[in-house]
Amino acid sequence: QLGTMGTEYITYKGMLFPRLDYSPETISYLQSEFQVRDDDVFNVTYPKSGTNWMLEILSLIRCDGDPSWARSVLNWDRAPWIESNNGQEAALKYPPPRLLSSHMPLQFFPRSFQGSRAKVIYTLRSPKDVVTSYYHFTHIMHAFKDHGPLDAFLQDFLSGNVPYGSWFDHVAGWLGLRGQDNFFYITYEELQQDLRGSVQRISRFLGKELSEQQISSVVENASFQTMRRNKMCNFSEVPDEFMDHSKGQLLRKGVSGDWKNLLSEEQGRRIDTVYQEWMQGLGITFPWD
Ligand code: A3P
Repeated sequence: QLGTMGTEYITYKGMLFPRLDYSPETISYLQSEFQVRDDDVFNVTYPKSGTNWMLEILSLIRCDGDPSWARSVLNWDRAPWIESNNGQEAALKYPPPRLLSSHMPLQFFPRSFQGSRAKVIYTLRSPKDVVTSYYHFTHIMHAFKDHGPLDAFLQDFLSGNVPYGSWFDHVAGWLGLRGQDNFFYITYEELQQDLRGSVQRISRFLGKELSEQQISSVVENASFQTMRRNKMCNFSEVPDEFMDHSKGQLLRKGVSGDWKNLLSEEQGRRIDTVYQEWMQGLGITFPWD
């Protein structure tokens, strides 16, 4: 159940969230009262960064490569969204060990995460491809308002005036945790370049020893083609009142560099300028740099 139809946003401490299934009360509870458990595993992303891909990988690793859970249970039930009304309710009832999802920036994440041994897997993607994927997605999902033409959407993205706020703030905040042993980050581009090696690294982080055969099954079942066919993760089960299936699908192209088909060079340079301001101090090199 996704909640009731809505096209407007709500604001929480200056950040936008879709009104659909979100409320300031739920977000505030998340921040100050939600109890993180040491055995929780969180799939954390900024929207359109490969959330559902990572969720599929984590679901398959959890089941030692056996795809039955990923093929029979909807992805939002396998890893509920802790910040949404329905998701939080499901998270509170989830028998541990929990697999949970979140798009929250670090400053709105449960305070009880601090000092816990819960694990966070943070996936990030080139901001230019994120804008591209996000722009298309706003036209498919009714939870988003129409941000107008591409240039207006880009402006909103650069100033954090889109749901879940600024990509730059999100990434800089979460990557501040690097080096902490319960925090792992990986890029969408690394998943693409070496899915097998990535699955091995993620399994190791989770303390799971998978055989070569089990890893092969994770890789095969988390491939773009397999996921596109799996109704439990491809969003084809999202009711028409929330998603216009005639306008596109979640697994749209699944490639890197598609921004070149949407953004002008000048728009690309505008992203570069803001990117450099924020990312310079981080001291990390990403595959897209
Ligand atoms: P595109 O819109 O560029 O195709 P999220 O899950 O965070 O909403 O991200 C969605 C993006 O991840 C979409 O990008 C989608 O195609 C891509 N994606 C999902 N599963 C994938 C997979 N197995 N391989 C490659 N890309 C995948």
